[in-house]
Amino acid sequence: MRVDIVSIFPEYFAPLELSLIGRARNSGTLRLAVHDLRGWTHDVHRTVDDTPYGGGPGMVMRPEPWGAALDALAPADLTPPRLLVPSPTGVPFSQALAHELAAEPHLLFACGRYEGIDQRVLDHAATRMPVTEVSLGDYVLFGGEVAVLVIMEAVTRLLPGVLGNASSLDEESHAHGLLEAPMYTKPATWRGLDVPEVLRSGDHGRIARWRRDEALTRTAARRPDMLAALDPAGLDKRDVET
Ligand code: ADE
Repeated sequence: MRVDIVSIFPEYFAPLELSLIGRARNSGTLRLAVHDLRGWTHDVHRTVDDTPYGGGPGMVMRPEPWGAALDALAPADLTPPRLLVPSPTGVPFSQALAHELAAEPHLLFACGRYEGIDQRVLDHAATRMPVTEVSLGDYVLFGGEVAVLVIMEAVTRLLPGVLGNASSLDEESHAHGLLEAPMYTKPATWRGLDVPEVLRSGDHGRIARWRRDEALTRTAARRPDMLAALDPAGLDKRDVET
């Protein structure tokens, strides 16, 4: 997968050299480049923002540098990337969207700052490539950089070969619309607290049932919205008795 990130703070992306994302880059699974938006400015102050039309607080990112950046990274004669613009006004980011993005050959992230990017940049880009504004949640960050780090981590771990044990993808939280059951490791007793007996029983049927019940109970307590959205056809009789 190819990924381009445009930002006025390229230094934010240093963590993408580390750990499993860094390894995915070294192995060639991920070809990632970070670009400084100011490289597409032409004035002595390398200006990227200006006051908003219609008034109001804050500054808006000017369209010219963004237009030039997108022209350079998504040339009209090549297959266009999918443009992702982190914004609190975007569609909610989710595991389902992470899977969708992991199947794309080329992602281009545009990190806005201040009050966002002039809307015409996105409207113009949409005539050439798919554009998705994505929100991490109902809160406001300084800019899109941290959101891109989050999205890239969620997407990279879904790329083939990145996780040593791909079956963990199948059991993790959000994989089946439920939160994951609690996990334990050795020792069996720690500070007077025992690992649940069932997990030490070796009875795989009972363990699977226990994990499913814990997942249902946890999801009901913490995310009733997820429980309500579960497909009833995916529930068995013993789920309903829980
Ligand atoms: N930029 C500012 N706030 C954001 C949010 N909640 N999600 C994604 N990008 C953002």
